[in-house]
Amino acid sequence: MNGIKIRGTGRDVPGRIVTNRDLEKIVDTSDQWITSRTGIQARRHCGEGEHISSITAAAARRALEDACVTPDQIGACIVATATPETLVPSTACSLQRDLGLLQDIPCFDLNAACTGFLFALHTMECLLNASPRKFGLVVGAENLSRVINWEDRGTCILFGDGAGAAVVECREGWPSISAVLGCHGNSELLRLPGPGAEEPCVLSMEGTKVFKFAVEAVPWCVDQVLNRTGRTVEDVDFFVFHQANARIIDLAVRKYHIPAEKYYKNIQEYGNTSAASIPLVLSELRQQGKIGPGSRVLAVGFGGGLTWGGCLIEFA
Ligand code: COA
Repeated sequence: MNGIKIRGTGRDVPGRIVTNRDLEKIVDTSDQWITSRTGIQARRHCGEGEHISSITAAAARRALEDACVTPDQIGACIVATATPETLVPSTACSLQRDLGLLQDIPCFDLNAACTGFLFALHTMECLLNASPRKFGLVVGAENLSRVINWEDRGTCILFGDGAGAAVVECREGWPSISAVLGCHGNSELLRLPGPGAEEPCVLSMEGTKVFKFAVEAVPWCVDQVLNRTGRTVEDVDFFVFHQANARIIDLAVRKYHIPAEKYYKNIQEYGNTSAASIPLVLSELRQQGKIGPGSRVLAVGFGGGLTWGGCLIEFA
């Protein structure tokens, strides 16, 4: 199988900043508790007139520009999201219309909760191998502020909205991203009921149990990806972890002795943006010049389902 590399990235977040101090006025919590237990100081929530489709389109346009790829060169489009504005049409179909993507290409949404972007990258690699077109658009986007349970202080402080996008290219001879993906088939620990459920559409989570799962899943994914690719920790230029809790990232950093210049956190600014979290980090790193052509990035995600995933992706 031919591999994919990232050619360009883009991101967009809503304008409304919600700080820990703002949340102190809504639930029984404190800036000190949130910062020390999660690393989060603020998050962005969609305000009036802001929708997942608009931030998705803005992020995707920036990624196309960054990659110097035009919409008619895109051979497939996947939006990873668990919080679409409409289930039908999919967010990807709305994006196809907004960007003027070709009509004879697959455009669809994919839901693997917080691991969605990595599931989408792997799916895109498979699709482009079967397509005459060599560029693909992968977006992770969420509007989690719409599904927050404002009576649950254990979850309402965690989540934010945002969108991150990547334009990928598939070429003969490039290495596969060697994705390791999986799920436990768990429907209790992290739950967001849909229109078919007899429950309100609000997010619930047993945080401590999900935390335990995450601290085991992250090193498992890192080890599997390194094993599959025959690489070592030293061969990796940058580690990108799903931004769910700063303490989960810190544990992984300590375990693998990752130096400060090889990992990144933006959870303090955005909170947990689920499927958008990894591409938001990728886009910021690229803009700051910390990763670029030739960089090898090991990305790890985990989330509801319970899903997990890791891959080694290079920049073209
Ligand atoms: N402010 C103040 N106190 C809070 C609080 C808040 N926002 N949320 C919970 N608490 C309290 C609890 O009520 C509990 O009090 P008690 O001991 O009197 O019962 C105490 O803090 C500890 O709660 P607990 O839920 O055990 O905290 P925690 O240390 O596990 O932290 C999370 C909670 C959600 C931050 C943490 O579990 C977490 O990050 N989980 C993983 C999330 C994740 O990775 N999700 C990935 C999927 S996207």
